[in-house]
Amino acid sequence: MSGTEDALRLDGVGKQFGTFTALHEAWLRVRPGEFVTLLGPSGCGKTTLLNLIAGFLEADAGEIFIGGKLVTQTPVWERDIGIVFQSYALFPHMDVARNVGYGLRARGVSRAEEAARVAEALAMVRLSSMAGRRPRQLSGGQQQRVALARALVIRPSLLLLDEPFSALDRNLRMEMQFELKEIQQKLGVTTIFVTHDQAEAMSMSDRIAVMSEGRILQLDTPEGVYRRPAHRFVAGFIGDATVLRGRLKGMDGVSAGVEAGGLTFSVPAAPLEGTAPGAEVDVFLRPEHLQPAEGEAGLAGTVVSRAYLGDRAELLVQTEGAGRVMLRVPGLAALERWPAGAPIRMAVGSAEPVAFPAG
Ligand SMILES: Nc1ncnc2c1ncn2[C@@H]1O[C@H](COP(=O)(O)OP(=O)(O)O)[C@@H](O)[C@H]1O
Ligand SMILES: [Mg+2]
Repeated sequence: MSGTEDALRLDGVGKQFGTFTALHEAWLRVRPGEFVTLLGPSGCGKTTLLNLIAGFLEADAGEIFIGGKLVTQTPVWERDIGIVFQSYALFPHMDVARNVGYGLRARGVSRAEEAARVAEALAMVRLSSMAGRRPRQLSGGQQQRVALARALVIRPSLLLLDEPFSALDRNLRMEMQFELKEIQQKLGVTTIFVTHDQAEAMSMSDRIAVMSEGRILQLDTPEGVYRRPAHRFVAGFIGDATVLRGRLKGMDGVSAGVEAGGLTFSVPAAPLEGTAPGAEVDVFLRPEHLQPAEGEAGLAGTVVSRAYLGDRAELLVQTEGAGRVMLRVPGLAALERWPAGAPIRMAVGSAEPVAFPAG
């Protein structure tokens, strides 16, 4: 099989540092124009994987293809990639225009073409008026836009970004996320983005590779990793969840019945494959998996705290005998009916949670 239709393909790529395995065999296929995020906690191997793709590190095992071309042994500068790091890594003694044009000069592009392409790249990141400034005369957000322009000006077939916005404050970070996504879609450039921030990954990505301890655990759409987590690590890392200990009642090929806290949930069967009826399971409950119930039915509890979010509120509830759970209620009802300390009854909501064998 040829890999020509993949913008990026990793076939069993691994990396050791001494006896420590930083990356176990990674398999990944990225389509042209796709925005894929490597998401996981600090130390899980995201930067190692990105550096292998870039060519800053040499793989111990496996093969890497960019645009169908085998590049496992190809040096960084011949891989046709643009890279943006967390630290902007701009040349302090060059002005913005010369920083952005650096990669073009290194490739022997004519002065006239360099000027035209630098102007185009600076317009794209809305920094045309800053072309003559030095990096130290720019804010952090502006420096990161220069770094982005410098990566894009060479028209790379692959754009790699390693936690590019994590040094920026929250508002600026969100602005930069929107801007990057807009530019990425306009150019159609295949992008591999690294972050430890699940909200950032959810909002920007076509697909997310969730990583833990040197492994890609799941590669799926934002909706997929949120609604159908394939591992308990993924279920706990993405979104808010509280874990309710329960028992498996039975299952068919598709779904399983699970009893927890006196409630019966329908959950996907796949994560419980091989688990015997009667065995203990952990149900990962998100706020939308429960809803308030009327009368004496359902799971009883007391509101411990309330996060009012305007249109809705999230309640943290201490149950009688099933630990703490969260649920989402309309904001107005929360203010009037369920202040902290109020008794509440909860029933199974319309969305389906997932369960895993008890950990
Ligand atoms: N050059 C190196 N030598 C030894 N260990 C390393 C080296 N680079 C990274 N590691 C280790 O490999 C693991 C993964 O690191 P890294 O890929 O930087 O993680 P992340 O980017 O997800 O935070 C970490 O435990 C880190 O300490
Ligand atoms: Mg890193």
